[in-house]
Amino acid sequence: MRQDQGEWREIKFHDYAAIFKIPGLYEHLFHDLLRCQSPAVVRRLLEEEVDREGGERTRLRVLDVGAGNGLMAEELSDWGVGFTVGVDILPEAAEAAHRDRAGVYKDYHVLDLAHLSPRERGALRESEFNVLTCVAALGFADIPPRAFREAYNSIVPGGWVAITLKEEFLQGDDRSGYCRLIRDLSGSGALEARTSRRYLHRLGARGEAYHYVAMTGKKVHDA
Ligand SMILES: C[S@@+](CC[C@H](N)C(=O)[O-])C[C@H]1O[C@@H](n2cnc3c(N)ncnc32)[C@H](O)[C@@H]1O
Repeated sequence: MRQDQGEWREIKFHDYAAIFKIPGLYEHLFHDLLRCQSPAVVRRLLEEEVDREGGERTRLRVLDVGAGNGLMAEELSDWGVGFTVGVDILPEAAEAAHRDRAGVYKDYHVLDLAHLSPRERGALRESEFNVLTCVAALGFADIPPRAFREAYNSIVPGGWVAITLKEEFLQGDDRSGYCRLIRDLSGSGALEARTSRRYLHRLGARGEAYHYVAMTGKKVHDA
């Protein structure tokens, strides 16, 4: 939240750069004040699914998209995944992750997934990621569907997908493009959906509740 001419307004994408520059500010705003729970919710959901299938967490090679300053990677590291590579459009996010959570990422790329060069695309695919996480980054005009599709196509068939989406994005009148994308992924057989859980993502600037949906699934083929 931020005060503009006496009015509180929601944080927009470009505010993140300034927030990430100040150690602890992102955690204080979103997690202490606005009670964001998304990284912990997604970790639990993914953990349950991987355990249910008898998968080995140490074999997980995670691509964490919209990685920010590394809160999701910290959850994954505590759980004991093989490794996590972060991607974010903001250099300030990468700097904050290195500064505040050194070691939780094996690597961190500052990339605009909506406009990848063939070389960048090839480099991501070479890593053969078998998990895609995208947490608290599909909600407030953050990552566009086109960029998400690139991320989806960067993991191997059989890989896990674990994301959170603003619940309005799943409704018929949604204009973000996500409702259609998720429907296409399932309808075309590109994604085998597993779990879906509605939860309180965080509070808004005026104390209102923002509900998101955390989803897991298995990629079958490219989108
Ligand atoms: C609310 S933060 C979430 C950070 C982290 N996943 C977490 O759970 O704390 C959203 C992040 O998405 C990133 N982002 C927005 N648009 C993006 C894009 N097109 N490509 C990559 N990252 C993007 C922002 O820079 C920001 O770091």
